[in-house]
Amino acid sequence: MKHLLKLEDWSTEEITATLNLADQLKYEQKHGIEHKLLKGKTLGMIFEKSSTRTRVSFEVGMTQLGGYPLFLSSNDLQIGRGEPVEDTARVLSRFIDAIMIRTFAQSEVESLAEYGSIPIINGLTDYCHPCQVLADLMTIREFKGKLEGLKMCFIGDGNNMLNSLAVGAMRMGMSFSAACPEGYDPPEHILEFGKQFGDRFQIVRDPLEAAKGADVVYTDVWASMGQEQEKQEREAAFAGVYQVNDELMAVTNDECMVLHCLPAHRGEEITAEVFEAHANEIFEEAENRLHAQKAVLVECMLDKKNDAD
Ligand code: CP
Ligand code: NVA
Repeated sequence: MKHLLKLEDWSTEEITATLNLADQLKYEQKHGIEHKLLKGKTLGMIFEKSSTRTRVSFEVGMTQLGGYPLFLSSNDLQIGRGEPVEDTARVLSRFIDAIMIRTFAQSEVESLAEYGSIPIINGLTDYCHPCQVLADLMTIREFKGKLEGLKMCFIGDGNNMLNSLAVGAMRMGMSFSAACPEGYDPPEHILEFGKQFGDRFQIVRDPLEAAKGADVVYTDVWASMGQEQEKQEREAAFAGVYQVNDELMAVTNDECMVLHCLPAHRGEEITAEVFEAHANEIFEEAENRLHAQKAVLVECMLDKKNDAD
């Protein structure tokens, strides 16, 4: 069964095939070429956290592919009242053709895949955000014409975005340099993963060191969904230093891109000036969620391996 549980599970070839398909689907959508590849299929979308881009891209994407998206809020599902995910997986597998889930624990997504018999797509957990990173890689390739050899820099929290970006960058032959405050490094598992790539993977404290010679600068919120109660403590650790601003952009390569998964907090992780100067890249990135997520749906739901399982 082909799932997208985390980007580590996908090879360079699988990521490249998905980016190529995303480009093709973007072209077809923009030229009015019908591509109802998932006609008659249903996608269940479970949301245990808020969402604008993920929900709309999957819902619209599934519709454009000729399928049916079913929005399932954890407030309404029995999962919200304690029904085990193992049972939910086995029930939903008998009704629908795939599940996209946004939740807290990565283990919940892994359990859905273990107990269900349909493709499971991770729409964000505390650990990772693979769907976003496929759209990010698509956007970088669109603007720069390549991925291999480029330097990506991440400024901020060692969070779900950093984790997936680091894996995506390594898989696609980029180098990756992140600046995180002390106490906010990515998890040990990601540090271990990065070690095998030597100089191509680096975590430092100084944002200017991380950004030096970067071709792509990426940032994300200081406090993610579920960390609202840590907001003040995090502000104290990040404020004034872990920000994408003109001083930081001055040490990057010419034509350096700026990306942000959104939602953005102007004046915190990024200044309004840098955000607006790179708004064309950031909103193309947001649009590419649609095309990349359609490619993920097709790759997972029409994979030949699924018939054998
Ligand atoms: N970037 C992203 O995943 O946005 P949403 O939280 O709006 O889905
Ligand atoms: N790190 C952020 C990403 C939002 C798309 C969060 O988890 O809230």
